Amino acid sequence: MSLLTDRVRQVSRRPATLGQVPQGAVTLAMGEPAGGTPQPIIEAAEAALRAGRTTYPPMLGTPELRTAIAAHLDLGTEGARPLDRVVVTHGAAAGLAAVFLAHLDPGDRVVLPEPTYSLYADLVAMAGAVTSWVPARDNGTLDPERVLGSLDGARMLVLCHPSNPTGEVLGPEVLQSLIERCEQLGVLCVVDEAYRDILLDEAVAFRSSAEWLGSSEHVVLVGTFSKTFSMTGWRLGYVAGPASVVSHVGTVHQTFNGQSAMFVQDAAVRAFEVLPTVLPPLLEHYRENRRQVVQALHDLGEAVTFAEPEGAFYAFPRIHSDLSSDELVERFTAGGVLVRSGREFGPSGEGFVRLSFSGERTAVIEGLHRFTETVRRLR
Ligand SMILES: Cc1ncc(COP(=O)(O)O)c(C=O)c1O
Repeated sequence: MSLLTDRVRQVSRRPATLGQVPQGAVTLAMGEPAGGTPQPIIEAAEAALRAGRTTYPPMLGTPELRTAIAAHLDLGTEGARPLDRVVVTHGAAAGLAAVFLAHLDPGDRVVLPEPTYSLYADLVAMAGAVTSWVPARDNGTLDPERVLGSLDGARMLVLCHPSNPTGEVLGPEVLQSLIERCEQLGVLCVVDEAYRDILLDEAVAFRSSAEWLGSSEHVVLVGTFSKTFSMTGWRLGYVAGPASVVSHVGTVHQTFNGQSAMFVQDAAVRAFEVLPTVLPPLLEHYRENRRQVVQALHDLGEAVTFAEPEGAFYAFPRIHSDLSSDELVERFTAGGVLVRSGREFGPSGEGFVRLSFSGERTAVIEGLHRFTETVRRLR
């Protein structure tokens, strides 16, 4: 085993197996979006295949898709050409890997406000860098003062916005203050906006890091088609940022992953075109599911503490008991519902679990029923 593999295995908090659902169990564990890929996107892929779009594509993505991503993010025309600021990647996962491997050297310090998406710490280890976890407030939300206070001497800050696992959307001023501090200190601020379109609370303003992409040398946005368009299996994402950083990201990505399939990229261009029609019904579905989750958690009273999710499709309740997160997951599994252990998302996720409410309504309602019954039996 290489030192690299060893490092990743040592730190990884990710479950060894995912996606296996025991017979009779309901899963609230997976971040699989609802409904399957919309038909017009599938048709665009079919048409591209029939048109012979089956050859090697350009290394960093087709110009059509890179231009569409730049337009979607409103990158404008100032400074470097939009094409020089966008790379198409094999999902956000490979985009994140390319950013980390392109930017980090062994020993560099990376600030991860927790709880957060568990891939980041594994990628930090892969690069030989060191994770600085920054604990959240008691209800699991980001503590801006603590994060600001941790940036001196760091090489990178990684924000998950909206958050997996809490569903938190960072306040506009919070995002601004974090980015400004990164700029002052020369820290690269990587903002994972995998859930940028899944905004559940109309009263909560979402400010995208894309706003800074035209002017800052220290902001990188990672995006994906997986969640917005229910395209998890298509493996397509992107990285946008300053041309200087994106060019290095492209070098790593093309060395490691090669290109993404051309017919998949053609379908993604179509996905942007149909966004205004496909997104609203999905949002309606997630919002109603969220309402059910929030109600169920409120009904548990003092047995749980949680922050209401504002985006994405997760809730991250703390369960008040003497059990660890892993033990809680076992209890829930025995109660017929699968959830994710809070410790996966950082050391202070201990005592929390993550519920995904992206699924079909009946499964979410049944899963919540089993969840609340199990919590009541813990006391
Ligand atoms: C926050 C976050 N970033 C990135 C990813 C990976 O996305 P992709 O399917 O594009 O690799 C996920 C998947 O769950 C995620 O939750």
